Amino acid sequence: MPNTMRDTAKSEVMISAQGIHKSFGHVSVLRGVSLTLTRGEVVAIIGPSGSGKSTFLRCLNHLETIDRGTIVIEGEVLAHSEGEGKAQYVSEAEIRKIGRKMGMVFQSFNLFPHMTVLENIIEAPLIVKGMKREEIIPKAEKLLAKVGLSAKRDAYPNHLSGGQKQRVAIARALAMEPDILLFDEPTSALDPELTGEVLRTMRELADEHMTMLVVTHEMGFAREVANRVIFMDGGDIVEQGPSEAFFAAPQHERTKAFLHNML
Ligand SMILES: Nc1ncnc2c1ncn2[C@@H]1O[C@H](COP(=O)(O)OP(=O)(O)OP(=O)(O)O)[C@@H](O)[C@H]1O
Ligand SMILES: [Mg+2]
Repeated sequence: MPNTMRDTAKSEVMISAQGIHKSFGHVSVLRGVSLTLTRGEVVAIIGPSGSGKSTFLRCLNHLETIDRGTIVIEGEVLAHSEGEGKAQYVSEAEIRKIGRKMGMVFQSFNLFPHMTVLENIIEAPLIVKGMKREEIIPKAEKLLAKVGLSAKRDAYPNHLSGGQKQRVAIARALAMEPDILLFDEPTSALDPELTGEVLRTMRELADEHMTMLVVTHEMGFAREVANRVIFMDGGDIVEQGPSEAFFAAPQHERTKAFLHNML
């Protein structure tokens, strides 16, 4: 690829979220969060419990609606506010189309318990994308090989370890061929000895330049794999920066206190 093309690809904006506000009842959970993510970036979001990390991710993926702000995914507007006005969403059809650009991996895996590993992976491509079984099964098998679980193709989720379940969940998200992956604490439900295998899979995706936004308590992952780290507290971004600089020299007192407790 010529350099100019690579630079263009590099700076392509995948997620633009500007001034996101969200309340639950009288509780203001997001207070004007703004974030831009470009293609191939791996960004870690860290911060204390209740700071709004999951809510922010869920707003991007339209699992929650925002009150105010603008969300644009790969150039397509999902929601938009004029000035201080309430956010207006695009049509249901457009929301669904934009939603398919993103895959999400949850702390709790969310696999379908009554389906085998393979069936879990092919379900959405079959139903949502209308793909044919003979088309999606070889793809699903490739994804299983990629996450190191070919041998578990016909197993049911309750016969898998937590780490294996999470790798299936990642394969399932990838089966929809998303351009962006959102992770909400993908290793928090795992025994410590199982986090490594999931982080390794995520690191491989990062190496392949998948665009990833990862809420995590794994400071090692944030430091070594993420290009940029965002520290959220009290519903806003307190500080962000390139991972190395962020950990080497945090600027804000709240960041320092948080990192002091984590490391
Ligand atoms: N559906 C909801 N209804 C009411 N309040 C909610 C809802 N979802 C989240 N909240 C509140 O919003 C705040 C932020 O929650 P959120 O789950 O986004 O935090 P978080 O940073 O992900 O925390 P954690 O690290 O514990 O996962 C919390 O005070 C929470 O109680
Ligand atoms: Mg959370």
